[in-house]
Amino acid sequence: MVVILAAVRAITVIPGRKDSAELSEVPEPPADDGDVLVQTLAVGVCGTDTEIVSGAYGWAPKGRDRLVIGHESLGRVLEAPDGSGLAEGDLVVGIVRRPDPVPCENCAVGEWDMCRNGRYTERGIKQRDGYASERYRVETGFAVKVDPSLEDVGVLLEPASVVAKAWEHVDAIGRRARWQPRVALITGAGPIGLLAALLGAQRGLEVHVLDRVSDGPKPKLVTDLGASYHTGAIAEACPPPDVIVECTGVGRLVFDAMEHVGNGGVVCLTGVSSGGRSLAIDAGSLNREMVLENSAVFGSVNANRRHYEQAAHALAAADRSWLRRLITRRVPLQQWSDALRRRPDDVKPVIDLTL
Ligand code: BGC
Repeated sequence: MVVILAAVRAITVIPGRKDSAELSEVPEPPADDGDVLVQTLAVGVCGTDTEIVSGAYGWAPKGRDRLVIGHESLGRVLEAPDGSGLAEGDLVVGIVRRPDPVPCENCAVGEWDMCRNGRYTERGIKQRDGYASERYRVETGFAVKVDPSLEDVGVLLEPASVVAKAWEHVDAIGRRARWQPRVALITGAGPIGLLAALLGAQRGLEVHVLDRVSDGPKPKLVTDLGASYHTGAIAEACPPPDVIVECTGVGRLVFDAMEHVGNGGVVCLTGVSSGGRSLAIDAGSLNREMVLENSAVFGSVNANRRHYEQAAHALAAADRSWLRRLITRRVPLQQWSDALRRRPDDVKPVIDLTL
């Protein structure tokens, strides 16, 4: 007897091996992945995906060679259990990280984005298949319902959740003393930088965004938020900022941000650098300045469920046409590799599974 197993198309990679990414046929999503079955509508592509595909990052699930990539997603529920709060037809975004198995004190209370032992897993990145497949399954608690009005931009929820966490932590750190921030500088006008600028503007801050390019869609996206766009040096961009959200991971900018943040200010680092480059730094002076000015610098990655919900509110409150302009390209699944090839005017390329 020949048993034909149903299959779905998925973008898979052998982590650590360059040029191993392909559109594969994989079995239907296993029941173990969760009791909500989702039809994928769109998957966003970011620098992490490019790194995984280049062989520099990513881990396959235990006992397997290949990982299904994709951690920024939007899908439609095909099946959900009664009492889950989800029903067939709902739009959902799958959360990326899962708590470590110990669990550490943060994972134990749903703050898995702050995992203490590094044994967390991440869909599409670390030891768990991602969402870049025609269908996937997800646990009820890790599916975030998205308002139907966000159908065309809901794929931005995951990057927005990363930014919502960053702002939440900026405020938590700022509140070590009286905290009335006025000026925010965002370095980098990629999707994370632009979403950070959006959330800064929604907080009523005077927002400045600094990037290298002076043409393409970025300057207008920034000014349409009521923010100011700059190229050049941080020191010339604006008065000493109360908050700097660094979104490039470029070493020079990271240190410039530490140096130029205002007294009592907060610098949040969100850019993942590739490493391998050295810089000459006067560490003593930088230390002296940071101490004498009470500066705070911290790193921020990932997001927990609360941040996805904050991000959903931020997207719902934003101008829809502005959000739509962040999605600069929609590529059909069959042409997935085009989405991973960066173009100069790209902000957020998306693989659209409905095309
Ligand atoms: C994702 C995060 C993830 C991080 C590190 C980012 O691209 O947005 O959810 O934690 O990569 O793996």
